[in-house]
Amino acid sequence: MAKRFCIHFMLAVQIFCFLKGSDASAEFSVQENSYVYEGYWSSINPYLLPQDHPIKPVLDAIFSASRATATESALLEAGFEIIAHMPGSFVIVARHPNVPGYVFKLYLDTELRCKDEIPNYVWLIRRCVGAEMIRKLILDKKLRYFEVPDKWLYLLPLEPEPYGPNPQPLLLIETDMDLQPEAVTQHAWRTMITKQHLRELYKVLKRGYGSTGLDRNIPFTKHQKFAFTDTEYPVRDHNLRQLKPYLSKRMWQYWEELID
Ligand SMILES: Nc1ncnc2c1ncn2[C@@H]1O[C@H](COP(=O)(O)OP(=O)(O)O)[C@@H](O)[C@H]1O
Ligand SMILES: [Mg+2]
Repeated sequence: MAKRFCIHFMLAVQIFCFLKGSDASAEFSVQENSYVYEGYWSSINPYLLPQDHPIKPVLDAIFSASRATATESALLEAGFEIIAHMPGSFVIVARHPNVPGYVFKLYLDTELRCKDEIPNYVWLIRRCVGAEMIRKLILDKKLRYFEVPDKWLYLLPLEPEPYGPNPQPLLLIETDMDLQPEAVTQHAWRTMITKQHLRELYKVLKRGYGSTGLDRNIPFTKHQKFAFTDTEYPVRDHNLRQLKPYLSKRMWQYWEELID
């Protein structure tokens, strides 16, 4: 058990030292939130929901009234509506009627599974890192057809005290991107996109950002853009040929020219 925990920690620290150049140490932070290791604060701080953000008092009210992330029934009792349980990441995606325009990605205190032996909250930090990289690129290259949600971390209050087996220190809040149903996204990738779309997409994917699973991870929005919603792997070695099933024959031919 101790060895496994140690592997989790070392892996996560390595990733964050790599991503942020931080000097991580293996001490618990007792000052702000005792379920976060000291070495993670430099990775968490840039992504904390600002104190003066309009939804901050609403979140404080929700999460101080009960330990909403204790169990699934506690989450529902606190007023959340669950949109998805993701089988690969184990993350729960949810909305709350008092926080319109945002979605939550969170792990319950009862969740014992974790992907690749990396603590679940580290995956949430990574989603912020990935989104930030794509946001900078969209601005820098003035991309017109793609967007990325804002992503912030919210530190769960220590009161009410968590009682589950795997207390989580934080959750992720994102702007709700008003996604079209998956069938509409599939149709958009197959029939609506142009060479300009592919040139922009190539600028993102060639750097290893984003995802090649276009229908689920770069969905079409109701305001007619494609959104990089899934950013948990900030930089990946993409196989760019994996786009074939999503594109028309003509667009696939153009994509092949781009990547060769
Ligand atoms: N910012 C968002 N706005 C609206 N819906 C979202 C947003 N992010 C995720 N979703 C919904 O939640 C699902 C799972 O999110 P995702 O980040 O892709 O999880 P995973 O990393 O486990 O695949 C998406 O397919 C989408 O339906
Ligand atoms: Mg996904």
